[in-house]
Amino acid sequence: MSDRRPTAVIVLAAGEGTRMKSTTPKVLHTIGGRSLVGHALRAARGVDPLHLAVVVRHERDRVAAHIAEHDEDALIVDQDEIKGTGRAVECALESLPGDLTGTILVTYGDVPLLTSQTLSRLCDVHDASADAVTMITASLDDPTGYGRIVRGPDGAVAAIVEQKDATEQQRAIHEVNSGIYAFDLEFLRGALAEVGTDNAQGEKYLTDVVGISTRRGLGVHAHLIDDLWQTEGVNDKVQLARLGAELNRRTVEQAMRDGAIVIDPATTWIDADVTIGPDTVIHPGTQIHGASTIGTECDIGPDTTLKDVEVGDAASVVRTHAELAVIGAGAKVGPFSYLRPGSNLGAQGKIGAFVETKNATIGTGAKVPHLTYCGDATIGAGANIGAGTIFANYDGVTKGHTNIGAGTFVGSNSVIVAPRHIGDGAYIAAGSAVIKDVEPGQLAVTRAAQQRNIDGWVARRFAGTKMADAARAATETKGDE
Ligand code: UD1
Ligand code: CA
Repeated sequence: MSDRRPTAVIVLAAGEGTRMKSTTPKVLHTIGGRSLVGHALRAARGVDPLHLAVVVRHERDRVAAHIAEHDEDALIVDQDEIKGTGRAVECALESLPGDLTGTILVTYGDVPLLTSQTLSRLCDVHDASADAVTMITASLDDPTGYGRIVRGPDGAVAAIVEQKDATEQQRAIHEVNSGIYAFDLEFLRGALAEVGTDNAQGEKYLTDVVGISTRRGLGVHAHLIDDLWQTEGVNDKVQLARLGAELNRRTVEQAMRDGAIVIDPATTWIDADVTIGPDTVIHPGTQIHGASTIGTECDIGPDTTLKDVEVGDAASVVRTHAELAVIGAGAKVGPFSYLRPGSNLGAQGKIGAFVETKNATIGTGAKVPHLTYCGDATIGAGANIGAGTIFANYDGVTKGHTNIGAGTFVGSNSVIVAPRHIGDGAYIAAGSAVIKDVEPGQLAVTRAAQQRNIDGWVARRFAGTKMADAARAATETKGDE
């Protein structure tokens, strides 16, 4: 980190992004679980600027609301009808206090892989030189579309020329402007006032400031970086996927460096804000999204999707879909489990195959192992919920909550009609429809009092059918014995 705090970072996000062909503003599209502008804000905040301003115009209200959600201290600046990156920066300067001095950084809202480290390095390089402008440049095999870095006979930067304004000779230059700069603030304010709109696009170009600096002998430094991904912007959905894949590759690699074991990085998707403890194994086909945190020595996957899920140490989560759920230490989930928001499984607990849970707190060591819907319930420690139990939480109009006491046994294929209170250590007989509360230690059984077996009933009721034939064959064999 630079020891001098930058005075401000200005993030440009006013452009329309027409090539995205989307009803969602470009900078609100996400990669790695975070919007493009969210990535830009994160990188900007990382250098600890005194002021952080974001310039908006296209879909202004949606973009501004999103920015405020992400970073409540960011200053939202409206760009007026004058177009161009230079005008965008000028609008930001007009919104910031007029007496600011020091270093100002400019970045874009649609360049999501740029890191704080790179911005910090840019600050250091700028502070160490006496130049009025330091910009990040990159050398591209295909520089089409970018502003070219034109150097003088001595090799010093002379100007930036936009693709649309460039001569044939200038278009052959491979070194391009990334659009990320550090400026001396006083110089920038004065220089922008001199920039006009006499160019192919009729815009006020920020890049014209570079020519002004060299003409005045104030110096321009090009800081060439090798990691081209950090300068690449998103202009269409192909680039969105390309940068999304690269961000994921970086995130998965970091997770491994932090100690996770990723069996198949190619089919593993981890969002930027996820944390994973050491020696946790991530099996193929796993996606971990949002603000999920995974403990140490867990087994996650294969084919599992977790969004905003907290998983305790040594838990196992196999072929599961879970959202806004908590899975306790040493708990076992899956295969084929569906944990909806508000599911909270205690330590050493179990949610097994074909079980759906929602707004359900399942106590320490409690088990819901097979074929159950468990919604709006609190289940005590060590309880066992038999196969096929349904928590009937909805009567068609309102939802009700069910409490199951600690150590209670619910027999298979029971329906517990909410709202219901079942005491500790109670016993529900298999196949019961429980419509009354049960006290601690009681047996609840709602089946018909006895089972009747009526001889020859099938032969009489279904004479001539395959069923009747099978019954007769069985009776005859029995007679032969
Ligand atoms: C700009 C640079 C170019 C550089 C390229 C890198 C200029 C004149 N050119 O070109 O040298 O190689 O970026 O990607 O600066 N924006 C606003 N307000 C505006 C116009 C743009 O906020 O009026 C924002 C956009 O939302 C975007 C960024 O500025 O985030 C860049 O705008 P864009 O139109 O993509 O610039 P380029 O023409 O690509
Ligand atoms: Ca662009």
